[in-house]
Amino acid sequence: MSSTRTFRIAAIPADGVGTEVVAAGRTVLDAMAQDSGGAFAFDWTEFDWGCEYYTRTGRMMAEDGLEQLAGFDAIYFGAVGWPSVPDHTSLWGLRLNICQNFDQWANIRPVRFHRGITSPLRKADESELDWVVVRENSEGEYAGLGGRNLSGRGAGNEVALQTALFTERGCERIIRFAFDLARTRTRKKVSSVTKSNAQQYGMVLWDEIFERVAGDYPDVETESVLVDAMAAKFVLNPEELSVVVASNLNADILSDLGSALAGSLGLAASANLNPDRRFPSMFEPVHGSAPDIAGQGLANPAGAIGSAALMLEHFGLPAEAARLNAAIEATAAAGVRTPDVGGTAKTGDVTGAILEHLRR
Ligand code: NAI
Ligand code: MG
Repeated sequence: MSSTRTFRIAAIPADGVGTEVVAAGRTVLDAMAQDSGGAFAFDWTEFDWGCEYYTRTGRMMAEDGLEQLAGFDAIYFGAVGWPSVPDHTSLWGLRLNICQNFDQWANIRPVRFHRGITSPLRKADESELDWVVVRENSEGEYAGLGGRNLSGRGAGNEVALQTALFTERGCERIIRFAFDLARTRTRKKVSSVTKSNAQQYGMVLWDEIFERVAGDYPDVETESVLVDAMAAKFVLNPEELSVVVASNLNADILSDLGSALAGSLGLAASANLNPDRRFPSMFEPVHGSAPDIAGQGLANPAGAIGSAALMLEHFGLPAEAARLNAAIEATAAAGVRTPDVGGTAKTGDVTGAILEHLRR
């Protein structure tokens, strides 16, 4: 009698190094399934959507792409974008299309420091740094509201509006999510980030909701910090951070800063969650398609493989997720590192070393 849990996963490697790191992550997940003694398995369907697909069809994904994806247990995503297609076309046509329509409103981006990887932060040697950026992923500055007009008045007269959307529901759900996450961590603290001194409508609404929600979590320490000051704090006092919650744009920027501080953009993992589980959630490295190094086996697969660990957690396999994160860490500590983190290893070497650590 078999009681194997089979997870149906849509793989969308898309462009550039996305294809290389998704292949690496699939190899690792399949090996874990094989070694699970029949406890779980993965049933993959790969989609060839991305910039090449756009060149062929004029679309970034199939017309009924969202319907095709809706039935999967999760989406494992690489990165989208190639110089042949304008970035706003490729990003909106695929990644943002999926995030927004599947209401993946919580984007989780852990900032992990690995032994054996040099951080540009001196503090990284002295203290245990570990925090997570919680990004509002459904509205804010990426709501896509606005337009361009008046170009008909002649050269130099065009105007553009890009409007940020802040709803009470949207702010409250992401802020509650951050507090609930903080309760699961050693340090129970939430730092809220806005720019409410300059943006007096949306961001003041956010601040007020943060204050109100904080009242329901008296056991969780809080602070509200302006985004410019938070950028400085990431560098100067990162030991004070645990959960950092911010709007779409601000958290996007801060999480790249966080992964750079940990040593490389190639290390950072992320989960785009639909916490209500009405739609599949999507797991992807934070980095983009890196055209400058694509196709050469130079991509660091740690971010994509770490995203696979977040997917295992989402599937209710926290012990497996922890095992995978430990293997990523051990591989770096053993000196098997791609060039972005000071090594000479290839993508395949790092993947192979992670597999070896898993099987030890
Ligand atoms: P990028 O993240 O692709 O690259 C920035 C720098 O980090 C480059 O020097 C690159 O070589 C390096 N890097 C990135 N991933 C790496 C990895 N796994 N291993 C080693 N080094 C790595 O960001 P960029 O250059 O701004 O954008 C390139 C394309 O990616 C654009 O088309 C952009 O729109 C798209 N993009 C897509 C994202 C997504 O699909 N989620 C996110 C960010 C950018
Ligand atoms: Mg980004």
